[in-house]
Amino acid sequence: MSERRVDPAVRVDAVVTVPGDKSLSHRALLLGALARGRSYAGNCSPAADVESTIRCLRDCGVWVRSFGRGRIVLDGSGPRESLRSPAAALECGNSGTTMRLLAGVLAGHDTVATLDGDSSLRRRPMERVAEPLRAMGADVMTSAGGTAPLRVGGRRDLRAIDWTTPVASAQVKSAILLAALSASEPTSVTEPHATRDHTERLLRMCGLAVRTEGLRVTVEPGCPEPFGFRVPGDMSSAAYFLALAAARTGWHVRCPGVGLNPGRTGVIDVLRAMGATVDVIEGEMAGGVEPQGDVELRGGALRATTVAGGLTVRCIDEIPVLCVLATQAEGTTEIRDAGDLRTKESDRLAGIAGGLRALGAQCEVTAGGISITGPSLLQAASLDSLGDHRLAMAWGVAASLAGPGATSTVGGAEAAAVSFPGYFDELARVSSGSA
Ligand code: S3P
Repeated sequence: MSERRVDPAVRVDAVVTVPGDKSLSHRALLLGALARGRSYAGNCSPAADVESTIRCLRDCGVWVRSFGRGRIVLDGSGPRESLRSPAAALECGNSGTTMRLLAGVLAGHDTVATLDGDSSLRRRPMERVAEPLRAMGADVMTSAGGTAPLRVGGRRDLRAIDWTTPVASAQVKSAILLAALSASEPTSVTEPHATRDHTERLLRMCGLAVRTEGLRVTVEPGCPEPFGFRVPGDMSSAAYFLALAAARTGWHVRCPGVGLNPGRTGVIDVLRAMGATVDVIEGEMAGGVEPQGDVELRGGALRATTVAGGLTVRCIDEIPVLCVLATQAEGTTEIRDAGDLRTKESDRLAGIAGGLRALGAQCEVTAGGISITGPSLLQAASLDSLGDHRLAMAWGVAASLAGPGATSTVGGAEAAAVSFPGYFDELARVSSGSA
């Protein structure tokens, strides 16, 4: 386990180019594998999670080649034909997106596969995808407690379903939509709040008929056309630097070319509500379907805010770093409707509270969230990622905001590579005040 020492930031005035979006990279790879022909993806995320998707696809016989700097070429043979039964269990590592979306892809093939993961992924709920895939006719077995390892016996002629999911989860929705390509009739999914719609957009880019009516999305079965797609930067990675710059009046950061999918921009809404000035300059849509552009933020006096309902869903991965920022804001920030954070890579509500208390901040875990009262002068602390990449990176920001001379440590800092290899070096550069 590696530990990083993090000093308080001197000043922030920087341009930060973040790696390609992780959610989109997974989907580009899976859709490339399902298309009939050769697809090209550029600026794919270097994240360990995306490596897991590549490894699993290769283990299912898909030809995937990586040419460096995120350029990936892969060949598919159609939704029912592309994958073969792997010789051994598919190792999804720490990646919930790999496990859940791949379960959907495998459900529509005449294959049998076991999907496994690390100790964190083995604790996460899998019945939420197993249930709809079973309703479609796949033979899906989870382990005790509804967790991984997960065994998926697929079939080429899945039944269409009209599914209402109780959890707002883009992974569950996407697993169903990907399986639906191998169904006999159109399949629909209705979710309680709108989640990121990357899968829907990329399916449209591949020529498939996808209809969205409010919270209900319907996809027609069919074969994706091969594509060329350049993945925009990852808003969830940019969020750490945006939050850092938001903490002090006069600090500034610009992140060029980040994804602006409406299901991912909740963090911008929250930062604005807290007092930051955020300018968004939209560029050309990636692949003609995914909004992207430059995000520029200037810090100002911070006030507390409330994050609830659909807004919580639109910034679900950014809650840890937003909680860190809330320690610097005047008043009590309330994060509500965030109970699902207990089933992420760690129990994030407990993890956030533990770290914030060690830093000397005031917080309280509530039934479905957490509340933080600020402002606090953060003290040096020994922080722990608990093996969770988003906690590791949020603690990097917290330590950068600690009082003068307060050097903190982040244990398990290597977890950051799950989504952002090189994060702590970039943080050190940005917080040293060099542009
Ligand atoms: C993701 C969806 C979200 C998010 C995760 C990535 C995706 O998970 O937390 O980091 O790529 O679809 P849920 O769908 O479980 O909310």
